[in-house]
Amino acid sequence: MTKIKVHDKYFEPFIDSKEIDNMLQHMAGKINLDFKGRVPLFLVILNGSFMVAADLLKKIKLECEVSFVKLASYVGTQSAETVRELIGFDENVKGKSIIIIEDIIDTGLTMERVLEQLKDMGAEEVKISTLFFKPAAFKKSFCIDYIGKKIPNSFIVGYGLDYDRRARNLPEIYKITDE
Ligand code: IMP
Ligand code: MG
Repeated sequence: MTKIKVHDKYFEPFIDSKEIDNMLQHMAGKINLDFKGRVPLFLVILNGSFMVAADLLKKIKLECEVSFVKLASYVGTQSAETVRELIGFDENVKGKSIIIIEDIIDTGLTMERVLEQLKDMGAEEVKISTLFFKPAAFKKSFCIDYIGKKIPNSFIVGYGLDYDRRARNLPEIYKITDE
């Protein structure tokens, strides 16, 4: 892994594929134990979470359902104050135990919107899983049940995460640099 350029910015290697796999194994292990004998609905927050979802779900040993919503809150490398719903929730969340799959929780704004909506739609129970969490950026107070790794408040790309639509395909995580 070497330094890369995406649009106008430079990024350096931060977390390799092996470490990501270990993080996912750890999260899946806990979910498998906590939901033993139950049939949760995994709700994947697109776009960023598509790689996390594909790799995490392969490690889930439970009978389960999988569904997708598409939201967007980022513009460039900054969190926007509004969350747009691009593909909505379908009605099948009523009475279900839901595990949300997120790539990263930053300010928490996106997740708060999702939680409110699921509650309004009659979800029985909602747990949150996220590969990355930036505690220093977090502005909300909800509990995050499964965290892959806590990271400092700097912008990252790769493994589903983009900078203005680019770099989602990289199998590792890169962190922004100054030069
Ligand atoms: P929040 O609403 O501020 O918590 O931001 C959540 C969403 O913004 C995430 O699901 C990501 O899609 C995106 N995001 C947050 N931090 C980063 C980052 O460091 N790189 C790329 N996307 C990010
Ligand atoms: Mg996301």
